[in-house]
Amino acid sequence: MTKPYSDELTARFGYDFDLGGEVEDNPWIRQVLLRRTHRRYDSRPVPEPLLRLILAAAFSASSKSDFQQASAIRVENRGQRDRLAALIPDMPWIGNAPVFLVFLGDARRLERISKHPAANGTMEGFFNATVDAALALQTCILAAETLGLGTCPISVLRNHAQAVGEILALPDKVFPVAGLCLGYPAQAFISMRLPPEITVHRDRYDDSGLAQAVDGYDRRRDARHSLKNRQKSPEVFGTAAFYGWSEDKARQAMTPEGAGFAEWLRTHGFDFGK
Ligand SMILES: Cc1cc2nc3c(=O)[nH]c(=O)nc-3n(C[C@H](O)[C@H](O)[C@H](O)COP(=O)(O)O)c2cc1C
Repeated sequence: MTKPYSDELTARFGYDFDLGGEVEDNPWIRQVLLRRTHRRYDSRPVPEPLLRLILAAAFSASSKSDFQQASAIRVENRGQRDRLAALIPDMPWIGNAPVFLVFLGDARRLERISKHPAANGTMEGFFNATVDAALALQTCILAAETLGLGTCPISVLRNHAQAVGEILALPDKVFPVAGLCLGYPAQAFISMRLPPEITVHRDRYDDSGLAQAVDGYDRRRDARHSLKNRQKSPEVFGTAAFYGWSEDKARQAMTPEGAGFAEWLRTHGFDFGK
């Protein structure tokens, strides 16, 4: 008898790892294990009631202290969308997706609702609002996928905080966490994940087996989807004989992102508690 999740775990991690016992077969968990980001969409519009339902689910996410410091903007005006898309020409899905949302950390509302406002431009205020927005974003993604839609988060907006802030009229203490493209998906592939032995620790943090585990992961991922002929910046780093995920991500991380975001936050209400 095939174990439940065997195919899904293999698709996600590149091997059928042992769950250590019997578990209930649940179709939604199978769907989560097979989830993927979608950057291409067919032309079908997303019905308004469906979008409202997805957003209602998104804002059902947990919220630190019930402060509810996430907000979202539906970018419906074509001119505004085009201005956002023009900031990042190498990601045409920002302009093409049937729906485009921007999830915001909102440390402003908590100050506005009170006659005795607590200063919320601290590191704690920023972090809590970021986490709330990220949880709403991911809940939105899972809700959309459950209803047959596909999504792509867009954090590169933060590389253009000044322009995004102006286009979306963001007041102080309200900041973009990520955009979200949404529509009926056209095509995508499953992106293999690091094995749980690296990402899930027991009782204490221990990454002593990291190098070996990453090497195995690199090779499993390469066997499924090789990046050998898509090496980043060979003129800087050379051409690697074996080019796996770890080399690709190490090269990518050498190009710093979010330049100016911290400075923009400092001029938009956050002193991070000094
Ligand atoms: C916070 C966040 C920001 C992201 N920003 C972008 C982005 O700016 N552009 C993009 O094409 N994909 C973006 N992604 C999608 C990731 O590249 C994608 O989730 C990752 O490659 C794993 O693929 P998967 O979701 O299909 O498993 C983002 C994902 C997250 C969670």
